[in-house]
Amino acid sequence: MKINLANIKKAKNLLNNNECIAIPTETVYGLAGNAYSNKACKKIFKLKKRPKYNPLIVHYHNYHDLKKDCNFNNTFLKLYKKFSPGPITFILDLKKNSKISKFVTNKKMTLAVRFPKHPVTRNLLKKLSFPLAAPSANLSKRVSAVCSSDVHEDFGKKIKYILEGGKSSIGIESTIIDLRKKPQILRLGGLDISTIQSVLNKKIKIRNNQSKITVPGQFKLHYSPGIPIRMNAKKIKNNEAYILFKRKKISKPNYFFLSKKGDLKEAAKNLYSTLRMIKKNKYSSIAVCKIPNKGLGKTINDRLIRASKF
Ligand code: TXA
Ligand code: MG
Repeated sequence: MKINLANIKKAKNLLNNNECIAIPTETVYGLAGNAYSNKACKKIFKLKKRPKYNPLIVHYHNYHDLKKDCNFNNTFLKLYKKFSPGPITFILDLKKNSKISKFVTNKKMTLAVRFPKHPVTRNLLKKLSFPLAAPSANLSKRVSAVCSSDVHEDFGKKIKYILEGGKSSIGIESTIIDLRKKPQILRLGGLDISTIQSVLNKKIKIRNNQSKITVPGQFKLHYSPGIPIRMNAKKIKNNEAYILFKRKKISKPNYFFLSKKGDLKEAAKNLYSTLRMIKKNKYSSIAVCKIPNKGLGKTINDRLIRASKF
């Protein structure tokens, strides 16, 4: 993608002035502000209507910039070298003298850290003197945004600027891994956990504890298009949209395919835009066919199950 330097300059100026803007990432668009600024971080929560206790992910250009804010270990370095920049978020210990705003962490001593791969946002991060706090650029509990028009749909004129970056190439949020003690997955995401396991050479536990909410992405209702969803559906009802994993020979106006030939990466990439499209087309509910529960299919099913708790 060709980088428009005038756009980056505009984004940089706004961020330097404690404004919040939308930025493209390879997973989903983020609603970004200076992670060292209370003023900017407060704006993020307000715009997104996000509960204060739900901490933000902070985006860095590289791990050298992270040294002043967090402690990290060899497991981090191993995974960083293999997967960053990319769709993985690390939970690390925050340093006492870090400048990270207390609004980012809700005064806790841990920090979620990611190094996004999108070339536009990498170019921007390189030019800033601070990291960017950025939750997904959607209204709280709703489907994430995978292109600038999705962000516009949710925020309209309330957002000062959307840095254009085309459609997100992964289309689903990052995988979150807690590295403070024994590694644990807190949220399934765009990086298949089997690839993380093969780098660490061990099985990693997936934390799925609803009572103790570590990641509100684990809340029951999340990622919702705002209409009911039924999983593993074989038959469809009146005025229902039908999401199919792969293209079928027969096509009907209410059939929506996630991939052409049954590719899980392609399906993950198309999931959120398909949910948004169905909502726009005024269907009253959604039936989803069975989606293979392996690789990124696990992430797709995780999001659909949460979205179905409508
Ligand atoms: O791909 C992504 O991760 C995107 C892009 C923009 O980077 N961001 C994203 O942010 O999905 P958000 O805020 O929608 O989801 C981040 C999740 C939240 O569920 C939050 O609770 C969790 O990360 N989180 C943030 N800080 C945490 C921490 N210190 N410990 C545990 N969970 C944390
Ligand atoms: Mg989100």
